[in-house]
Amino acid sequence: MFQTKRWNLMNDTTYNQRVINDAAELLKSGSTVAFPTETVYGLGADARNEVAVARIFEAKGRPTDNPLIAHVATKDQLKKLVRVLSPVAEKLIDHFSPGPLTYVLPSNGMCATNVTAGLSTIGIRLPGHPVAQELLKQCDIPIAAPSANISGKPSPTTAEHVWADLQGKIAGLLDGGPTGVGVESTVIDCTQEIPIILRPGGVTREQLEEVIGSVMVDPALANAEDKPRAPGMKYKHYAPEVPLWLVEGSLQDVIDAQGEKIKRIGVMASTETASELQADTIISLGSKKSLNDIAANLYDALRTFKEGDIDLILCETFPELGIGQAIMNRLKKAASEYIMEK
Ligand code: TXA
Ligand code: MG
Repeated sequence: MFQTKRWNLMNDTTYNQRVINDAAELLKSGSTVAFPTETVYGLGADARNEVAVARIFEAKGRPTDNPLIAHVATKDQLKKLVRVLSPVAEKLIDHFSPGPLTYVLPSNGMCATNVTAGLSTIGIRLPGHPVAQELLKQCDIPIAAPSANISGKPSPTTAEHVWADLQGKIAGLLDGGPTGVGVESTVIDCTQEIPIILRPGGVTREQLEEVIGSVMVDPALANAEDKPRAPGMKYKHYAPEVPLWLVEGSLQDVIDAQGEKIKRIGVMASTETASELQADTIISLGSKKSLNDIAANLYDALRTFKEGDIDLILCETFPELGIGQAIMNRLKKAASEYIMEK
């Protein structure tokens, strides 16, 4: 059990630098610290220190066969962790980093074996969030960081989410406010001639294709029977406390049909759809016209419905274009049923 230290960052650069320095010292001494990135909050530890990294797995209750992403501030630091960097990987890095893209590259073994879960490759990301950037610069070491949630739950997009899951289990938490993108980074395997998207995320397939031409998508993302190439994608994820049904078609029809059998129904929907519905609790995810807003609000909405208040969550589907691919990937993983209403 820890007395988790919580620092609130403010509009005061000197204060923030001092606080981030304290957090960096904790990380360098082998402790775990949660921090904001532009996607979701991460739970960091020194990626070269096996004992420190083990603390992440323990705090999250994470399966040890699921590798972690190493976070660094610069391309030079990234190069120190890999065996080779292909021209296509360099092109991606120069274009998208810092940003919400994670590169799977051949590892040179610099990081502890529990970071890579024994794989010959390593996932590396240069986060763009100013707090993450400053923290990584002050540490000057690679920081292993999965999302800072209890394994299986929705990823945290606010410090409150991290606090609810990990208070008492980690050494520190840097509160930098809500994260922004709201879904995790895109994971792209750059060890093949044509890179493969292993997890859709903050950088869209369309954006990647604009820069490097063709990209492939792990077939397991479309077909549940295939074994995913990103070990983490096989686990049940993002699960809210209450069962979630994804509904393609009329939500009101499903509400009306279930109304008799199920006591309290909660709905997650776009503002446009929400305005036409009648249900016990309705959370608006933002306008249909901005899938970026829907992504930013998604995990907070999933965490809002609590067992005891609501018996079933219904959520509408979104077009699988742009960031919509990441939204639908997460919703399908969170859902226990997919209903098609015509
Ligand atoms: O946006 C993000 O990526 C956040 C922030 C904190 O950076 N991090 C994050 O980490 O989402 P995590 O651990 O929740 O998800 C990492 C994903 C998992 O699905 C994992 O299996 C995959 O990346 N991964 C990591 N290293 C890999 C590797 N060497 N090969 C294949 N997949 C890998
Ligand atoms: Mg995660």
